[in-house]
Amino acid sequence: MNRPVDISYDTSPKLSAQLAQLWPLLQREVQEEITREPILSEFLMPTVLDHSTFNGALSAVLAQKLSCPTLSQLSLRKLCLESYEADPTIVTSALLDLIAVTERDPACKRISVPFLYYKGFQGLQLYRIANWLWKNNRRALARYIQSRVSEVFAIDIHPAAKVGNGILIDHATSIVIGETAVVGNNVSMLHEVTLGGTGKETGDRHPKIAGGVLIGAGAKVLGNVYVGEGAKIGAGSVVLNDVTAHCTVAGVPAIPVGQCGSVLPAHDMDHSLETGE
Ligand SMILES: CC(C)(COP(=O)(O)OP(=O)(O)OC[C@H]1O[C@@H](n2cnc3c(N)ncnc32)[C@H](O)[C@@H]1OP(=O)(O)O)[C@@H](O)C(=O)NCCC(=O)NCCS
Repeated sequence: MNRPVDISYDTSPKLSAQLAQLWPLLQREVQEEITREPILSEFLMPTVLDHSTFNGALSAVLAQKLSCPTLSQLSLRKLCLESYEADPTIVTSALLDLIAVTERDPACKRISVPFLYYKGFQGLQLYRIANWLWKNNRRALARYIQSRVSEVFAIDIHPAAKVGNGILIDHATSIVIGETAVVGNNVSMLHEVTLGGTGKETGDRHPKIAGGVLIGAGAKVLGNVYVGEGAKIGAGSVVLNDVTAHCTVAGVPAIPVGQCGSVLPAHDMDHSLETGE
């Protein structure tokens, strides 16, 4: 079976222009929050409004969440900024993830909400830094970040895993993504999803998830299986075999239960049961 998983970036000028608008929008939203709730200024000024760039604000909010007695906010901020400078696609991914959350999560209409509060968004951005460290042979620090993210956010993504952009990890508690997993662009997953090994394979042993796939809450995808573009995996399923594109699978073990009505179910977060009406 052909197993394409696209994690490349859309570099079109139209998208760049759209992304450039997000930083002023974030500043406006946060200013409105402070006007409504002045008590939040102690949190919102140092994390957003004291900064002149999106990179500065992102590094501040991530450092504020992850710091601990053995890793200071200052060191974490410097590390984030160093990675953004060396690899600007980390920031592009963060902006695309923000759009993904606000477009697909019906409970979230403001980009400031995932930026400030959603551990699915924040944990993913810290994975992106650990992944950059891993690729640059700084594995001890990558593992340290992975471990802290797991403690703080209950999200355990191996730094060597490959994750595309425009990703929504909703609710996010108990997400596990293994070392050789690949997650394509525009994938949405709910809480308690595992992309893990079966325990019977070594080497390349984790799932490959193509673009636009929706993975329901509690689903376990195990082994080096391929989930094709735009497929849907039902909540609580255990997927042990390849899933063809635009197919819906569900159950334990998961079996095909239908074809997706939507071209990219992750994109519109269509959790619905098809009625045929
Ligand atoms: C799988 C899902 C996406 C629906 O997809 P769909 O293509 O519309 O599938 P259908 O609803 O037509 O279901 C087809 C069959 O699979 C069954 N099915 C659907 N979801 C299932 C699941 N998670 N586990 C077991 N069976 C399931 C249906 O009962 C139906 O069975 P039937 O044909 O015997 O009546 C949806 O059920 C789901 O699990 N969404 C995840 C939502 C989620 O994680 N929510 C958490 C929010 S916090």
